[in-house]
Amino acid sequence: MLPQEIIRKRRDGEPLARQELEFFFQEFMEGNVSDEQMTALLMASFYAPPTMDEALALTDIFIRSGSRIDLSAIPGVKVDKHSTGGVGDKTSLLLVPIAAAAGVRVPMISGRALGHTGGTLDKLESIPGFNVHPPPSAIVRQLSEIGMVMAGQSADIVPLDRRIYALRDVTSTVEILPFIAASIMSKKIAGGADALVLDIKAGRGAFMRERVQAEELALLLAGVGRHFDLPTVGIITNMDEPLGYAIGNWLEVVEVVDCLQGRETPDLMEVTYALAGLMIHLGRKAQTVSEGIAVARDVVRRGLAFEKFLELVHAQGGDPSYIQETLRYRNAEAAVEVVALCSGVLHGVDARALGLLAVELGAGRKQPTDEIDPTAGIVLAKKIGEHVEEDEVLCRLYSSAAHDLVHFRERVREAFSIGDREIPRADKIFSYFDSDTIVPWSPESRAP
Ligand code: URA
Repeated sequence: MLPQEIIRKRRDGEPLARQELEFFFQEFMEGNVSDEQMTALLMASFYAPPTMDEALALTDIFIRSGSRIDLSAIPGVKVDKHSTGGVGDKTSLLLVPIAAAAGVRVPMISGRALGHTGGTLDKLESIPGFNVHPPPSAIVRQLSEIGMVMAGQSADIVPLDRRIYALRDVTSTVEILPFIAASIMSKKIAGGADALVLDIKAGRGAFMRERVQAEELALLLAGVGRHFDLPTVGIITNMDEPLGYAIGNWLEVVEVVDCLQGRETPDLMEVTYALAGLMIHLGRKAQTVSEGIAVARDVVRRGLAFEKFLELVHAQGGDPSYIQETLRYRNAEAAVEVVALCSGVLHGVDARALGLLAVELGAGRKQPTDEIDPTAGIVLAKKIGEHVEEDEVLCRLYSSAAHDLVHFRERVREAFSIGDREIPRADKIFSYFDSDTIVPWSPESRAP
């Protein structure tokens, strides 16, 4: 078989047989298919997306590129969660300690920043000392001892995704539904979870701009889950504006600490509690999703989730003193404010534009080998629907990598649109789905 012939078939929209996919990806892992050829296949797949059968084959090939973690010796339902990627989306950092404080075991396998969206692993690595690559034996031990672990795919777990993810990130080939499905589901299946909760983002800051695309992806992911015996449910959530206030790695950790200490950001916690309710219900620690949400609120209110977060940081080699006292962290070397040029009501905050600007400030990568500046990012001062006075601060920019922040100001300001009239609050959570159905979201939605 010739790699270029496989690329041609993909380009011309011809289905690829499982053996062809296997050959192409195995040869890539062995260095006989180049990054250029893989990128060509990815770009061709953007225009001629793989079928459901190919998505299943890809998921399987991804899983078999490494080993699977066996968690069967650990009692209880192990529940993982994944988001398709958003701006300011720090829900995973909240959900792991919340669900664990509620008694659910959470083996979370996460990814890095992708395109204009942030990555859980990069956020965790902003915590001094935090190790996101514990070996599989340590993952199993930690899960059994403290009920939670947050790790990345590695040389052991889905190494193929790690390499392809990095290429997709820098070649504008993220938005291919079957590749998103294979990337997410392979990590979750190899990670050994018994059940999965998904957050599919829809809107201008998501990879799926339209809700119908998000719904298509939701059913694809849940269908792959069913094929591999991993019960998968989730919600489709609004990603028109960033979630919460902070965008950027350490800045987001600080917002997580605030929320776990009771200074809750409303939109962020609305989505977090819905996901936590699903996780706690799937983990059999609540009879219904609404009871799961009540449990989640309770463990945050009583400070148990914050205690769990400290325990997680400590267990993975991080320094909990930075979490206890976030002001200890070094400041970004440069900071500027962006103010409103007129008074009115905030009608829009373009999440995608801010996500891209945050990458330029140093919060993400332009090349796979780029170092991230953990202090870089944007902190919003206003959310959509709020009143703004002329000269009032809309957001603050931080960076230690890009010192000349003043030229960013105008570009950042363009991401904010201000109008005269009041606007209704947009829904944050649109729908609930499992492998059979998509229905409008309500906490009464039943998970299987
Ligand atoms: N998250 C992933 O892990 N992979 C993708 O492709 C998109 C979001």
